[in-house]
Amino acid sequence: FSLQPYNTFGVEAKAKYFTEVRTIEELKNTLSENSQPLLFLGGGSNVLLTKDFDGLAIKINLKGISEEGSDENHILVTAKAGENWHEFVMHCLEKNYGGLENLSLIPGNVGTSPMQNIGAYGTEIKDVFVKCTVLNLENMEIETFNLEQCRFGYRDSIFKQEGKGKYVILEVTFKLTKKAHVIKTEYGAIQSELEKLNIENPTIQDVSKAVIHIRQSKLPDPKEIGNAGSFFKNPTIPLAQFEKLKQNFENIQGYPNGNMVKVPAGWLIEQCGWKGKQIGNVATHKLQSLVIINATGNATGKEIFDFSTEIINSVKEKFGIELEREVNII
Ligand code: EPU
Repeated sequence: FSLQPYNTFGVEAKAKYFTEVRTIEELKNTLSENSQPLLFLGGGSNVLLTKDFDGLAIKINLKGISEEGSDENHILVTAKAGENWHEFVMHCLEKNYGGLENLSLIPGNVGTSPMQNIGAYGTEIKDVFVKCTVLNLENMEIETFNLEQCRFGYRDSIFKQEGKGKYVILEVTFKLTKKAHVIKTEYGAIQSELEKLNIENPTIQDVSKAVIHIRQSKLPDPKEIGNAGSFFKNPTIPLAQFEKLKQNFENIQGYPNGNMVKVPAGWLIEQCGWKGKQIGNVATHKLQSLVIINATGNATGKEIFDFSTEIINSVKEKFGIELEREVNII
């Protein structure tokens, strides 16, 4: 069974078996009837399939959005794992619920959003996250993880650490504002986009519009060019190391956080001469070198993986910094 339509890189890889589940019962039944290795698929926007999968691939297609408990200014909105993330954000904005607007146009599904604590333009889902419901694959019990239990960090959560492979996320609940929205425009690019649009007192819908414009202007649309967004995390290095680098590379940028500094990986990669560079079927995006693309549409997962290894090696050689892949390698 071809998984090509189920990963946004658009690489070919086959699974021995494939099924889609629309309800928790279907998921439980599928799991109780099968004992082969499992591969859970969400939106397919953060995976790189490097070889065929000798087991059962399960596409999580649980759908539905519901609302519960609200006070004067807040509402709890729950979306099932198979809801498309951007459509969910648009749904909330239509209802004038605030909190997700900075996360407009992020590819993928709701169910995978907590895995890597998706974030962009000054917001991460941890800022609005209340809880998620999961199926524990060891005992088939349904469990709830609250904000603290998820141990969110930068592009990180318990589901990428100790919890890796142990749970399937079924639904996620967010606390959103109904009025008195908190408008977050500190991220420079949003400010300048709003200025371009001549908007002085932006609404949450305006912020979303600005984010969509920025993303469309510099990130490739996976429907047109296969990619998985940022391929690497932005590395965090000790302040002392950063200051030393600054002596040799005076243009290096950094965002201090205590005695650590977060350095933009896109800049490091660009400095190593990789911006827009193509080898065979694989390249970095010409406007954002942190994004690796399936340039010809014919790349294999292995080719993309090897390309990313070469980038890691050159950044390590030039800057002494070891880039970490953000995308899940299967
Ligand atoms: N930069 C370069 N060259 C490049 C790319 C970036 O010099 O080729 C510099 C930019 O000039 C800028 C800095 O790096 O000063 C940061 O760039 P940008 O604002 O594009 O953000 P990023 O750090 O590259 C992160 C997220 C993105 C998210 C944006 C906006 C990670 C790994 N990536 O990218 O998330 O959209 O910030 O908030 O943290 C994703 O995870 O898939 C993703 C797209």
